[in-house]
This record gives sequence, C-alpha cells and structure tokens, in this order.
Amino acid sequence: MRDSVHFLLDHRPVTLEFGPGSEWRPTTTLLQYLRTFPEHRGVKEGCAEGDCGACTVVLAEPRAAGGLSYRAVDSCLVFLPFLDRKQLITIEGLKAPDGSLHPVQTALIRHYGSQCGFCTPGIVMSLFALHKRYESPGRPAGDAVTRSAAIDALAGNLCRCTGYRPIVDAALEVCAQPVADHFSGNEKEVCGKLSAITREDLLIQSDGQRYFRPVSLSSALSYRNDHPDALIINGATDVALRVTKQHEILPSILDLSGIDELKSWTRTARGLESGAGTTIQDLLEASAEQFPALAQMLQVFGSRQIRNVATLGGNIGTASPIGDTLPVLMALRAEIHLRSIRATRSVPIDEFFTGYRSTACKPDELITGAKIPDVPAATLVRSYKVSRRHDLDISSVSAGFRIALNSRGAVDDILLAYGGMAATPSRAKKTESSLRGKPWTRDAVESAMGMIESDFTPLTDVRGSAEYRLIVARNLLLKFWDETAHLPATAAEAKAGVA
Ligand SMILES: Cc1cc2nc3c(=O)[nH]c(=O)nc-3n(C[C@H](O)[C@H](O)[C@H](O)COP(=O)(O)OP(=O)(O)OC[C@H]3O[C@@H](n4cnc5c(N)ncnc54)[C@H](O)[C@@H]3O)c2cc1C
Ligand code: FES
Ligand code: FES
Repeated sequence: MRDSVHFLLDHRPVTLEFGPGSEWRPTTTLLQYLRTFPEHRGVKEGCAEGDCGACTVVLAEPRAAGGLSYRAVDSCLVFLPFLDRKQLITIEGLKAPDGSLHPVQTALIRHYGSQCGFCTPGIVMSLFALHKRYESPGRPAGDAVTRSAAIDALAGNLCRCTGYRPIVDAALEVCAQPVADHFSGNEKEVCGKLSAITREDLLIQSDGQRYFRPVSLSSALSYRNDHPDALIINGATDVALRVTKQHEILPSILDLSGIDELKSWTRTARGLESGAGTTIQDLLEASAEQFPALAQMLQVFGSRQIRNVATLGGNIGTASPIGDTLPVLMALRAEIHLRSIRATRSVPIDEFFTGYRSTACKPDELITGAKIPDVPAATLVRSYKVSRRHDLDISSVSAGFRIALNSRGAVDDILLAYGGMAATPSRAKKTESSLRGKPWTRDAVESAMGMIESDFTPLTDVRGSAEYRLIVARNLLLKFWDETAHLPATAAEAKAGVA
C-alpha cells in the first residue's frame, strides 16, 4: 500500500506526497497542479468542466499488446491519483531534444492553423494524440485518417473565434503519412520506467480527506463493505465537477480507476460482456460492429477527451435521466452486474433505476459490468440523441427503440426507452402496449404517438420545455418507423435477405 503518486511528467519521474505540509490534495486537479509551474503554463483553464479543451494534455500508459497508448484528456477533470503509473505529456514536452517542433506543430504552422494562446495548446495536444494513433505500428491495416476522424478528435476543442478548416487540413496531412517522433524512440525506456513503479493500492489521507485507489476488485469490494459512505468514482467526469464548480471537499473517495479487471470487455457467443471500468471510447470501438445503435450513441457522447476517461459503470452509476447509454442499453435488454464481498447478482437494466439518481446498487455493492445480449436477426434496434449542438452536448431527449414483427408484419416485440422525459430513463409502456399486435404502419404509429403524453410528464428546463420534449419524443417514434418500415423485420425476411 502506498500513500504517494508516482508518474512521469514528460520524461521526468515525479513523486507526489500528500498530507501535512503538502500543497496537494488527492482531489487537486491535474490542471491546478500543472498551472503551479511557471514552465507548464501552456495548459489553460477555460471552463473547468470539460467543455472547452483548453486544458488538454495526453496521458500515455503501457498497452497489453506492447508499446504505449496515448489518450487526450481534459486535465481540469482529472484528480492527481489518476496519474499513477502513467506518463503525462504536456505541450512543453512535445518538442524533440534537439529543440525542433513536433510534426503536428510544424503542420499547423504550415497550414496557418495556429490560433490564440488559449485554444492552440489544447488543439495541438488533441492532434498529437490523433497522430500517435496513426503512427502506431500496431494499428489495423487500412486504418487511414479521414476528415471525420480529424473533426472527431477536435470536437472537444472549442474556438469561438476563427475556423477549423486549416487545423483539420494540418491534421489530415500529418496523420496521412505520420513520421515516427521522439516519443516512439523513447517508448521502451518509458515503459521500463513506468513498470518499475510498483502496482499497489493507494491510500491517501490528507487534510480531512481519505482517498482509496485499489488495484484489485477484491480490495475494492472489502473497502466498499467497510466504508459504504465513500463516494465511488471511476473516470470522475461527473464527480470532478463537484470539486471544480461547487468547490466541495469530498471527504471520502473510493476510486476504481486503477482496477484493470474492470476495464476489459469480451465478445461472447451470446453478446458483449463489458467491465464497468471500460471507457466510453473503448466501448465505442468494441460495439461498432455488433451493436451499431449503441456505437452511434457513443459517437456523440461528450468529446474524445471525455470518452477517453468516462466509463460505462460511471454512466450507469449516475442514474442520470439524460445518461446517454441508458435508453439504448434498455432497448438492448442489457443486464447490470453487481457484486459485494458476499454475493454477485445481475439486474435487468429496466429494474435498475429506482428513482431520480438512485439505483438498485446496495451500499456494499459495486457495479462491476454489464452484459449486452446479441440482437436476434429479425429484431431492429435504433438510438437517437436530440441536443442543441451535434457535438459535446447533453441530450434534451434521447431514445433507444427495439422492434420485431411477426410473420404477418404485426408488432411482436416492441421497447421504447427514452431519456430526458422523466426522473429516470424510462419506457413508454402505454405507447408500447398500444402498438403491440398492430401492423407496423404509419397510421398505427401516428395514433400511438398520441399515447406518449400519457406515459410521461416531462419537465421544462434550459434544454427544452415540456411541450418541446413531448413533440420530440413523438417525432422520434415516427422517425423510427420511417427508418424501419422498409427493412426486413420478420425472421423469414431477414433470412431471405430482403432489403
Ligand atoms: C464535458 C462533459 C460532457 C459529457 N457528455 C456526456 C454525454 O454526452 N452523455 C452522457 O451520458 N454523459 C455525459 N457526461 C457525463 C459523464 O461523462 C458520464 O456520465 C460518464 O459516463 C461518467 O462516467 P465516469 O466514469 O466519469 O463517472 P464518475 O464521475 O466517476 O461517477 C459517476 C457516478 O457513478 C457512480 N459510479 C461510478 N462507477 C461506479 C461503480 N462501478 N459502481 C457504482 N457506482 C459507480 C459514482 O459514485 C458517481 O455517482 C459528460 C460530462 C462532461 C464533463
Ligand atoms: S478547462 Fe475547459 S475543458 Fe478543461
Ligand atoms: S479561442 Fe483561440 S482563436 Fe479562438
């Protein structure tokens, strides 16, 4: 058990001590930490809530397949213990030892993409992470950079002043023929230094705070049993805002981000099993082929910086009425795995949310993962997110829908799950009943659309009025019909390949 955090700051080993005399708390953010150094002021605070990307840095850590993975993150949302056994790469660390600029920086200059000192460092760091992905020798053959991949990498970097076109052009050029940079040359040495740091539980007690970051599930479960009041975090993209915006001092934290066994996912013969600690970005990649409706929703989840840190377990654990994975997981009939030191159980996601921001997870339990069963050939699942902006925005209304027709073209199985319509993500059960057994026709759907207001009494808030939400919910059902009415929806048609 350790009480200090060890990492590499660019290439320099750093040990952070907490407790009396230390200027750091375990919930000091990485941004606050970096900004105390005169030589690390390239990183900026724009919003302190993950919305602007001015604070973007890159975290590198050893990959199971060898080498390092490089992920752009918003340093304003990262607590210091998250750095343990990682390399933190800052804008100041990008230039080569001979002082020459990184290829990403020279491409930006060549394309006139460099902007003000506030947004440019974050943009450079996002492009650096993108460049590392295409430069990686282990990347799949044919994985060539596209304009949409470049735009996606930049969606978390906000500039309200100029345009993104020259930045995207620079990204395309530098990632189309990526050249190995000095980080590649040093990977072996960095991996060696990181693996020399012992992998062990961290227990930090400092100034009225107690912060536990175990490296095994068994250790986490016994801590949970003994400290049921400790606030669980994983990516902390939700919880960190309590520190950066409400200035709360969180007294007791159980941080699951060091537990490798929660981060894995596996495809089984019957679906996908994902650990609670799987990041949204990893889940997006894992689900792309098997569960396109889920992947489509994850593609518009936050930004790359958020998805690189936020986890599936965290999204389920928030029980937020606008948690984006939740309606589509309901449509996929996912099951949530829960575990305590005494028992393991699984709960259908439908039964997991018990009220506003409350769940069936007991005080001694942790969410350990979710099972997403395969969708039968003749069943169609779709997801929808309606928000004020396309990228990096919270849903006003979201939905996950599922339908299967019988051999006569009538509705056999239907599930209509919505986010943003009630205190929890919820099904429109009366609307579902009104459609069951009916032909899947526009007339039937239009008449069912009138039932939605008997299922929900939505709130009016900054993201939309109650009336707006009801209209959107009705229209999403019509859109679903429009997208599925002409697809092979009966088992026989699906088998025959009718399109
Ligand atoms: C800029 C920004 C954009 C965002 N965009 C989106 C978006 O598009 N869609 C969306 O749905 N959300 C969005 N979020 C919210 C947040 O990123 C997600 O809810 C995310 O999935 C939370 O995961 P996390 O690991 O960071 O959770 P954390 O913040 O670590 O935890 C969230 C909650 O879950 C609980 N919890 C975490 N893990 C467990 C566990 N294993 N067992 C039991 N309880 C647990 C915690 O106690 C806490 O209450 C956004 C947040 C930010 C800051
Ligand atoms: S300061 Fe805006 S995303 Fe971190
Ligand atoms: S915020 Fe930097 S140029 Fe717009």
